Amino acid sequence: MSDSKSTHITWHEGDVTRDDREKRLGQRGVTIWLTGLSGSGKSTVAVAAEKELLSQGRVAYVLDGDNVRHGLNSNLGFSPDDRTENIRRIGEVAKLFNNAGIIVLTAFISPYRADRDAVREKMDDGDFIEAYVAASLETCESRDVKGLYKKARAGEIPEFTGISAPYEEPAKAELVIDTDGQSVEQSVAQLVGYLQEKGYLTR
Ligand SMILES: Nc1ncnc2c1ncn2[C@@H]1O[C@H](COP(=O)(O)OP(=O)(O)OP(=O)(O)O)[C@@H](O)[C@H]1O
Ligand SMILES: [Mg+2]
Repeated sequence: MSDSKSTHITWHEGDVTRDDREKRLGQRGVTIWLTGLSGSGKSTVAVAAEKELLSQGRVAYVLDGDNVRHGLNSNLGFSPDDRTENIRRIGEVAKLFNNAGIIVLTAFISPYRADRDAVREKMDDGDFIEAYVAASLETCESRDVKGLYKKARAGEIPEFTGISAPYEEPAKAELVIDTDGQSVEQSVAQLVGYLQEKGYLTR
């Protein structure tokens, strides 16, 4: 789907700027795009990081795969085209949140490099941080939080990433979060530390 069905539309600027909102919030809006296999720990790390940021007085919000598919993207499945459209919409939502000055943590497998790159392209410089949540397939499969790997191995789930559908590792991730090698707490510290170091947290 493209934007081409929308014609005769004009962007209406508000009186409050993104900069105004960010100053008020003491942070820069940014999207931390967590990508990785099912069970790699995207949701776990995102939720823990959101909590940590809130406890530090920041405003963060998790956009999570399954949750978005319950509503906004309930009309999309797991075919390559639908996965691409899923990611495109999430990118647009994240962009709106960033414009609101909010730190977004997205937790989507987002297996295609081109889809992630397309989101990066649409965002302003510095607004998109790709974070590869890395764990081996063996680790993810042994965790099998949702019992999905078992079903996928039994052929009950077609197009399951890592088993019967591809996962394309990031080539230029700003962060690699190794959940095989470090605890959730360490991953959160790594992520929040990165935001601090790069100047996203401004007070
Ligand atoms: N070091 C670790 N970091 C993150 N999660 C870990 C770690 N060690 C064990 N786990 C466990 O691994 C599981 C990761 O599941 P989680 O739902 O976060 O994965 P996910 O990447 O969001 O998967 P999905 O794409 O299916 O939503 C959790 O049960 C978590 O407790
Ligand atoms: Mg998840």
